[in-house]
This record gives sequence, structure tokens and C-alpha cells, in this order.
Amino acid sequence: PKKVTTRALVKMKREKEPIAMITAYDYPSAKLAEQAGADVILVGDSLGMVVLGYDSTIPVTLADMLHHTKAVTRATKRTMVIADLPFALAHLSKDEVIKAAAKLMQEGGAYGVKMEGGSEILVNVRALTAAGIPVMGHLGLTPQTVNQLGGYVIQGKTLQAAGQLVEEAKRLEEAGAFALVLECVPEELGQCITEQLSIPTIGIGAGRYCDGQVLVWHDVLAMSGDWHPSFVKVYQQTGQLMLKGVSDYVHEVKTRRFPEEKHATHLGAELAGQLYG
Ligand code: KIV
Ligand code: NA
Repeated sequence: PKKVTTRALVKMKREKEPIAMITAYDYPSAKLAEQAGADVILVGDSLGMVVLGYDSTIPVTLADMLHHTKAVTRATKRTMVIADLPFALAHLSKDEVIKAAAKLMQEGGAYGVKMEGGSEILVNVRALTAAGIPVMGHLGLTPQTVNQLGGYVIQGKTLQAAGQLVEEAKRLEEAGAFALVLECVPEELGQCITEQLSIPTIGIGAGRYCDGQVLVWHDVLAMSGDWHPSFVKVYQQTGQLMLKGVSDYVHEVKTRRFPEEKHATHLGAELAGQLYG
């Protein structure tokens, strides 16, 4: 099977073949995502919330991203793996951003990086692109700015705010971004941006008309508790399945139902006799 490249994604947009992206943070989940035929795996900094137990993505470090990106890329052959640049890095000097992104590619094995933000990061998007680092943009609800936004709320709801997002999307494309994540924006805005760009848009809570969709692994599989944002569709209740599996194991140990004879190995009768003297 052919590797997914930036060119492949643009071709998919042109031919109206939807792009399927999902997050993954470790070896087994990345293996499954590739087996399932995902085009792109995002090692999202959402790992801070769903894997590391933080209450936002802000505490996630470059070292965290590198650690998990390595695990993911050990599992993949054809899937494009994109790693998030963690909090504030996109705003550092050109040299520092290039260094961080290069690390995720050289040491982490990522194909490219994703950066949150618009006008304020264009200089760095240009610098990375010029250095041969593929950049995926991310507009709309940008979780790294949650403290400044004042919560996880839908973006682009007024005509002015929507117009500004269209402008920023175009500027990101001009600056060299190869794809753009749109998070939590009205469907009409997702559609408008998708039609105005020649690079693919990948939506999360951005309606039906983006060129692709992305969801968080733990949401798709209901692994992080009962609450989900309304844009999430749960495909399997694996959290419940896992709880049942672990509970059954604990119960069987406690009641001496596990292990059974078939799980044991034996000394021969003679040796066993000698063992007891
Ligand atoms: O970190 C993440 O999982 C993301 C996606 C939700 C787009 O940025
Ligand atoms: Na992210």
C-alpha cells in the first residue's frame, strides 16, 4: 500500500474522496488505526487530557510529544503521522520552532507538524515550509488558547468572526500549510473555507462539508468516561468492555478461579517429590 503524502491528500480533495484522520498516542492504537485504513494519524496534544490526566493541553511538553510520536511511528508504515507542536512553541522564534519541529520529524519519525493559530504564526509557517517541514494548520477552537478564550466554545459564530477565519485560512494556505484542521465552527463556515481553499480541510465539530474528519481516539471508542461533546460519535463502548474485562480478572483472582490448571506448568512427578524432600 502506498504512503500517504501531502500530494495524496490534495488529490483526495480534488477527487472528493474523504480524508479519515484519528488521533493515536501509542504503539497498539497506531497499529489499529493503520489497519483500519486511516489516512492520517494525529499525535495530538489532546494526549495531555486523555492519556496523561491533565485538565487541558497546556501542560504538554515537547518531550511528551516526542515520547508518544516515537511510539506511534514505530507502528506505522503507510499512514501519515502528524505531531502537534505543544503549547506556545508556535510563537517562539523561527529558529526555535524549526528546531522543535525538526526534532519531531528526525527523532519522532513524524511526517510533519500541526500548529494552532492564524495571522500571528504565519511567519513561522513560512519558515517551516521553507525548511521542508510540512505544516498542518489549526483554526477555530484552538484548545491551547482555552484560558484566553475562556472555555471550549464554538468559534466563528458572527459574520465578522467567520469572515476573519476565512481570511486566516487563506493566509495559512498562502504561507504554505498543506492542510487545515477546523475545530468547532458552524457547518456553513466549514463549507465556505473548504470551497475557498485548494488544500484539504479536516473538520472536528465543523459539520459535514470539510474534506476530511478527525476525532480523538478515546472519544470514538468511549474510553474517557461518559461525557462527550455533541460533535462526537461513539463507535464502540470499549471503556465498558475494558472495565468488564479488568473486573472479571480481579474477581477471578480473588475467588481463586484464575489461574486454572491449564495456565500452570509442572515439574515431573520425580522432581516434584524431591522438591518436598
Ligand atoms: O490534539 C488533538 O487531538 C487535536 C485534534 C482534536 C484536532 O488537535
Ligand atoms: Na491538539
